[in-house]
Amino acid sequence: MTSTNVPPLPDGVTVASLRELAVSLATEAGDVIRAHRPERVTVAGTKSSDVDPVTAMDRAVEELLVSRLTTARPEDAILGEEGDDVPGTSGLTWVVDPVDGTVNYLYGVASYSVSVAVVAGPPDPARWTVLAGCVHDVVAGRTWSAGLGEGATLDGAPLRPVEPAPLPRSLVGTGFGYAASRRAAQARVLTQVLPRVRDIRRLGSAAIDLCLLAQGALDLYYERGLNPWDMAAGSLVATEAGARVVGLRGAAPGVTMTVAGRGEGLDDLLSILEEADADAPDGA
Ligand code: IPD
Ligand code: CA
Ligand code: CA
Repeated sequence: MTSTNVPPLPDGVTVASLRELAVSLATEAGDVIRAHRPERVTVAGTKSSDVDPVTAMDRAVEELLVSRLTTARPEDAILGEEGDDVPGTSGLTWVVDPVDGTVNYLYGVASYSVSVAVVAGPPDPARWTVLAGCVHDVVAGRTWSAGLGEGATLDGAPLRPVEPAPLPRSLVGTGFGYAASRRAAQARVLTQVLPRVRDIRRLGSAAIDLCLLAQGALDLYYERGLNPWDMAAGSLVATEAGARVVGLRGAAPGVTMTVAGRGEGLDDLLSILEEADADAPDGA
């Protein structure tokens, strides 16, 4: 649980009520994805590169989330991965990823999620305060949620404190971008990390990765290139479970680098990433 002060909220709004809405939206979206997964999922288009797919489900679920939110919270803004941005007047923004782990969804690999968070301030990880968030693991049917200062839960049960692991015994989650130049840079950084840790996992949903880190199923996590919707809900689950979520060289977490973990293992990973210039421009 963090001790961060909650910024002033609109009249009648509490962190608990925002969290409840995030959970209800993410789980409803998860039900839709489970119920309507076609036998063979096809690519409806590509985004940043030929290997960055979008499916009809990504679009349909974002539409569902936007329609529910504009009814429940008409004064709040919405930032969605598939571009359904809605302006608002309340100072709150819902940051949503309808399917985090689209490549897994496409192939039927069992790690994809719905991520719903609400932030105060600009929807930028360097400047926002994440108030509440929910990550729903669609295939496993498990749900993590958190409220600022109110702790994090998995299926309603509080996440227990996790003992930090030293770097050589750490299981480290990571992910790779969709551009070839970004991937070449990430592969170079990986050669510095992999020999020094227990092992690496590339599971394919950053939101789930951050929640696994929160519950101790990963010791450390790092990734370059995360967008606000990939990390908003998962980062709050992690920090409310007692982990740190940071960037390199004292920066806030964000698109340049997001690193999560605890204790000296986290500090040692940060040193390796900084020495490897994991935040250097790579042309991506
Ligand atoms: C991706 C997943 C993946 C991460 C990528 C993200 P998407 O999101 O979170 O784990 O490595 O950086 O873009 O495209 O499946 O919503
Ligand atoms: Ca995503
Ligand atoms: Ca997505």
